Amino acid sequence: MMDLVIKNIRTLATPEGRSAKAGQEQGEIRFLDDAAIGIEGGKFAYIGKGGPPFCGKIEIDARGALATPGLVDSHTHLIFGGWRQKELSMKLAGASYMDILKRGGGILDTAAQTRRASKGELTMKAEKTLKQMMGFGVTAVEAKSGYGLDLETEVKQLEAARDLNISQKASVVPTYLGAHAVPLEFSSSSDYVSFILSEALPEVARLGLAEFCDVFCEPGAFSASQSRKMLVRARELGFKLKIHADELESSGGAELAAELGLISAEHLIAASDAGIKALADKKVIATILPGTSFYLGKPYARARKMIDEGVAVAVATDFNPGSCPSPNINFAMTLASIKCGMSPSEVLAAATLNGAAALCRAEESGSVEIGKRADLVLWDAPDLDYIIYRFGINLVQMTIKDGEICHQSDAFNL
Ligand code: NIG
Ligand code: FE
Repeated sequence: MMDLVIKNIRTLATPEGRSAKAGQEQGEIRFLDDAAIGIEGGKFAYIGKGGPPFCGKIEIDARGALATPGLVDSHTHLIFGGWRQKELSMKLAGASYMDILKRGGGILDTAAQTRRASKGELTMKAEKTLKQMMGFGVTAVEAKSGYGLDLETEVKQLEAARDLNISQKASVVPTYLGAHAVPLEFSSSSDYVSFILSEALPEVARLGLAEFCDVFCEPGAFSASQSRKMLVRARELGFKLKIHADELESSGGAELAAELGLISAEHLIAASDAGIKALADKKVIATILPGTSFYLGKPYARARKMIDEGVAVAVATDFNPGSCPSPNINFAMTLASIKCGMSPSEVLAAATLNGAAALCRAEESGSVEIGKRADLVLWDAPDLDYIIYRFGINLVQMTIKDGEICHQSDAFNL
């Protein structure tokens, strides 16, 4: 007898493997019709066709649902104070994202709101979003800091991430993003970079609050040479590394990610041809964030070219109050297909196994395979194409994390 048995799955669709799928392999998905799954000790213990040859302490009748691995939202700015809807009218009047930041709005506005919020307030607000994400099928999420900029508030954000990881079923992976913008109390970016190198990074490392370090490498934020210094120091201190690269302009971010062999380069809207080649050569995961292109009215990252050149592509939301206020990864998946030319199979791998790999979790999650963590989504969908096609509504019936139900739609209760 297993802890949990899920029967009557119309089709199980999953990538397979323990590392990111790149190039042609990204579209290789296992489809198993008329499937049943058994879960034991929070791990997948049985995957088979037809009725399972045993019972479960709990049994779920999937009633013909499509099953996929739990989704991994591998790039989010989950924790922050306030919102920035007041920027909408500025955007409509023609102000660019960087114009708003230069006027002390944007990230700096959210930093002010985040500094004012208590840790409890930040945690409760992010918990609401995290539950919405689980409602979209997400079982693991990255949470970047970067809205304190001062050490005290960055630590407050990272502690909120740690608390959510404990209190909520979804895994929350913390990333230190002190190099997100230059705070107003520093007169130059080089002074702030010196502060990050000598004080902030060593202290965040000492506290053990962040697994990854990320930097916003972009004209108007931090240059490639400043980013290199911070990433190299972060690596020495034991952080795994990511970069916000070529989000608005091509400024050598993808090339830097390859040079340093980072785990992932993220955004890449404006990545150069040479940058894309370099990511493929150095096996850096390219995390595309098409919800941000949508909301900023920018071009979409060239994911088709990336995959054709042998890059492993992940898809995530970039959820944040400025450039992508939506936590809906399903919408990002549709955009990845319609706007970036990825097939539904490639998108599935991007939002599961490759997302898990971008968080260094592909050994244990990101696919439905015996021995992996039992993270699963049941969809009200007859096939995989359908979840890309029916954008704008939520088809998730149930989200299961480590063998426990963490979200169930009302319709599924009927
Ligand atoms: O990924 N570009 C930097 N960071 C976020 C936006 C943050 C904000 O506007 O609050 C991004 O787009
Ligand atoms: Fe981001």
